[in-house]
Amino acid sequence: MLYDLVRKTRSFRRFKEDEPVEMETLRYLVDLARLGGSARNVQPLKYILVNAPAFNAKIFPHLGWAGYLKKWAGPEKGERPAAYIVCLLDTRLSHGADCDLGITTQNLLLGASEKGLGGCRIASISPALRDVLQLDDHLQILLVIALGKPVEAVSLDEQEAGGNIKYWRDADQVHHVPKRPLQEIIIAEIAG
Ligand SMILES: Cc1cc2nc3c(=O)[nH]c(=O)nc-3n(C[C@H](O)[C@H](O)[C@H](O)COP(=O)(O)O)c2cc1C
Repeated sequence: MLYDLVRKTRSFRRFKEDEPVEMETLRYLVDLARLGGSARNVQPLKYILVNAPAFNAKIFPHLGWAGYLKKWAGPEKGERPAAYIVCLLDTRLSHGADCDLGITTQNLLLGASEKGLGGCRIASISPALRDVLQLDDHLQILLVIALGKPVEAVSLDEQEAGGNIKYWRDADQVHHVPKRPLQEIIIAEIAG
């Protein structure tokens, strides 16, 4: 069921670091991204695929994790991502692609879920990641997708109307994600 897959497709931030994600799998996920809609069909997004542990270690320090969890500095060694997909904008083709990026990364993360993997979009990226990746001037980093086999439980919670939207962790380290209730976000139903 699509509904179940979408529910399962959460942001995961703790992984089995030593369980590799094959390059073929990363390529499959980018293929799903490629098939998404694109404004004016320009398709300005490009990708760098990484599953080499030594290179993963160079990317990791440049990422910001779970801003609402103030006491958590991000995944510890052994629970860090096993792979990354870096999403880039080719500025020769377009000066922005936020809608495209949402579509492509959702396709990609749904595909990861289907394969028993999990991921997290990371927009909090230090500018120095450009140098690590030795990017040409026309390529701009938009997001890094961290990927791997999740080792954390995530609970989707119905948020009380007007309640807090901040995600949080309970004493058992379950990550809770409040979602606004349907009746709060549908502001009109104009039925026939
Ligand atoms: C555009 C975008 C940027 C994000 N950037 C980060 C980030 O820098 N660090 C992080 O830990 N999570 C990041 N996230 C994950 C969000 O925190 C997460 O989507 C949100 O808490 C809801 O959880 P869910 O994805 O499981 O529904 C980002 C999500 C999106 C859509």
